[in-house]
Amino acid sequence: MRIGVLTSGGDCPGLNAVIRGAVLKGTKIHNQSFIGIRDGWKGVVEGLTMPLDRHTVRGLGKQGGTILGTSRTNPFEGPHGGPENVQATLDRIGVDALIAIGGEGTLAAAKRLTDAGLKIVGVPKTIDNDLDATDYSFGFDTAVEIATEAIDRVRTTAESHKRCMVVEVMGRHVGWIALHAGMAAGAHAILIPEQPQSMEQICDWVQQVSDRGRAPIVVVAEGFTLNTMETAHSEKGLDAFNRPRLGGIADMLAPEIEARTGVESRATVLGHLQRGGVPSAYDRVLSTRLGMAAIDSIMREEWGTMVALRGTEVVNVPFEDAVGRLKTVPEDRYEEASILFG
Ligand code: F6P
Repeated sequence: MRIGVLTSGGDCPGLNAVIRGAVLKGTKIHNQSFIGIRDGWKGVVEGLTMPLDRHTVRGLGKQGGTILGTSRTNPFEGPHGGPENVQATLDRIGVDALIAIGGEGTLAAAKRLTDAGLKIVGVPKTIDNDLDATDYSFGFDTAVEIATEAIDRVRTTAESHKRCMVVEVMGRHVGWIALHAGMAAGAHAILIPEQPQSMEQICDWVQQVSDRGRAPIVVVAEGFTLNTMETAHSEKGLDAFNRPRLGGIADMLAPEIEARTGVESRATVLGHLQRGGVPSAYDRVLSTRLGMAAIDSIMREEWGTMVALRGTEVVNVPFEDAVGRLKTVPEDRYEEASILFG
């Protein structure tokens, strides 16, 4: 069998380790061959490939990004999109089965293609940790480490100037990165999409900290909404899956905090720094295990499933368990953290 591997959607530390895990186990144990599909679903639609053998994956476990490239292409769009065209392209380039490594959008597309008869196994990836069917996704731990270090650094300059710093982290419509990085760095307020807040409450937390002579640190997830807002702040249009591109809420909040409290305030948006660079040790191990499990799933012909972490075990779950429902931060986790606010 020749197995195609693709990475799709936003990149994330650990993608290369998945590829390496799959190829090493696939060649050493199952005696299969591989072909790299370039640039995500775009490569499937357009037949873009690259060699993928044991030599290609040497040393990849610690390398950030993805050697295969990625895109946010929707495989159902365009003249060559749709299941029949995609199957014809896979036949032409000699791919018998696919490992699709991606987040919600990628797995939803993989589900539609498998429903139409294509042979696909998925591997969940996202720094946002928002996929419901897996306890953790690789990339999240690395993003939290990067964000925590950044907040630690912001704190020293904040203390020097006695400023309030509003640090915006990614996470789309969930607050996992904000919650974990904020707790780890000792933030004085953590603002997440699951828990809208009033400007009064945020300023109250800031004022309490300032009154103690400290520099307030506010960590805000990009998808956070004030209780006066209907939707998350978005000024950059839509992505290829018609989802709003988020970002910029920190720049809205900082001047408002300053105006209401008199505490000089600055915004820092961490952005794609959180997705770059080498994966953490935890993410390297998790992604390698998921890659090896994905090739086992292919050998068992478990089409339409993805590998997932449950506790410490790697299991297979149907795509439908992973898509369409976000893993949000539970209220009790937020309440636990909020004891530390102000
Ligand atoms: O889903 C991962 C993520 O990094 C989100 O946290 C963020 O909203 C989005 O991707 C950014 O996407 P892009 O790389 O297309 O700007």
